[in-house]
Amino acid sequence: MDTKIVNIDSLNIDEDLINEAANIINSGGLVAFPTETVYGLGANGLDENAVKKIYEAKGRPQDNPLILHVSSKEDVKELVTHIPEVGLALMEKFWPGPLTLIFKRSEKVPDIITAGLDSVALRMPDNEIALKLIELSGKPIAAPSANNSGSPSPTNASHVVEDLKGKINMIIDGGNTKVGLESTILDLSGEVPSILRPGGITFEQLKTIIPNVIVDVSEMSEFQTPKSPGQKYKHYSPIADLIVFEGNVENISKAINEKVIELMDNGKKVGIMATEETKEQYPDGYVIVVGSREKTESIATNLFTAIRFFDKANVDTILAEGVEMDNIGTAIMNRLLKAASGKVIKV
Ligand code: TXA
Ligand code: MG
Repeated sequence: MDTKIVNIDSLNIDEDLINEAANIINSGGLVAFPTETVYGLGANGLDENAVKKIYEAKGRPQDNPLILHVSSKEDVKELVTHIPEVGLALMEKFWPGPLTLIFKRSEKVPDIITAGLDSVALRMPDNEIALKLIELSGKPIAAPSANNSGSPSPTNASHVVEDLKGKINMIIDGGNTKVGLESTILDLSGEVPSILRPGGITFEQLKTIIPNVIVDVSEMSEFQTPKSPGQKYKHYSPIADLIVFEGNVENISKAINEKVIELMDNGKKVGIMATEETKEQYPDGYVIVVGSREKTESIATNLFTAIRFFDKANVDTILAEGVEMDNIGTAIMNRLLKAASGKVIKV
């Protein structure tokens, strides 16, 4: 398949191009588009056949449900049985934004979207191109992250090109995504609001609106069945081995340097995911500055790009500095620990 790649400026959206993209969605095709979190691979969320193509293009297991993206809070009504008070309050505060809410689904939502669950995941993205595309197509857009199943989520259009060129109809290049990690997933379909995936809207932020919010423990553990089916798959896995170092910063740098020597003595090519504050500490290895510890958001923004970069550089092992597990740090550590498949060194 020929994949058309187009540039759209979110501050000055080209009407013809965005109309063309909406027409592709409406005729059952696939369009990759930017959101504020990561790029999404979109199809008409009410068209079973179109949604099937998403699973095929990504090589995604069919038991992993999709998020429906809407362009207004109004659009939620017809997709759910009812909206609890807290749902309204959260939408008011955090939409558009990196927060996916799970509600009891209505009849209107096709089975293929929910993989048989009685709930549906909904999100209003904070990106003008995404909002316009949804609005013009007049449908909720089903969109997982626009990567091959198993590789890190794409944070710019070239990542999407690497993974999906030739398999989808169009890629909209709208520049780098802001947040860099996928949305927070909050389940409102049960008794207690629970976070199934940490992301751009933090536990601390959610607590201000819903003090009883909890983090689903299965999310962080390998030994329990996660409520969010996608969490059981090994995500974001780099080709290289990844080891996360947890502890205070000075100890981390020291331990990484020791590990670099050990690995290099064994003939390995080693990448170090460092920060502005620590970059001078590493005399050996291939060092990438992923962001600043003073501004943890910058680490989130660049994390997946850094992982893809190391893979392209063919490093054998990536040694990554851990960060504090609070605010956005919780989501960063969640992605790092998944990518590391449990390989953690506490110092
Ligand atoms: O930021 C994001 O959320 C991006 C952008 C494109 O919006 N999308 C994204 O989609 O990350 P995806 O498919 O890569 O991850 C969606 C996650 C999966 O882990 C899936 O299992 C979970 O949401 N999910 C979807 N519907 C669900 C439901 N009804 N109940 C529990 N988990 C659900
Ligand atoms: Mg994904």
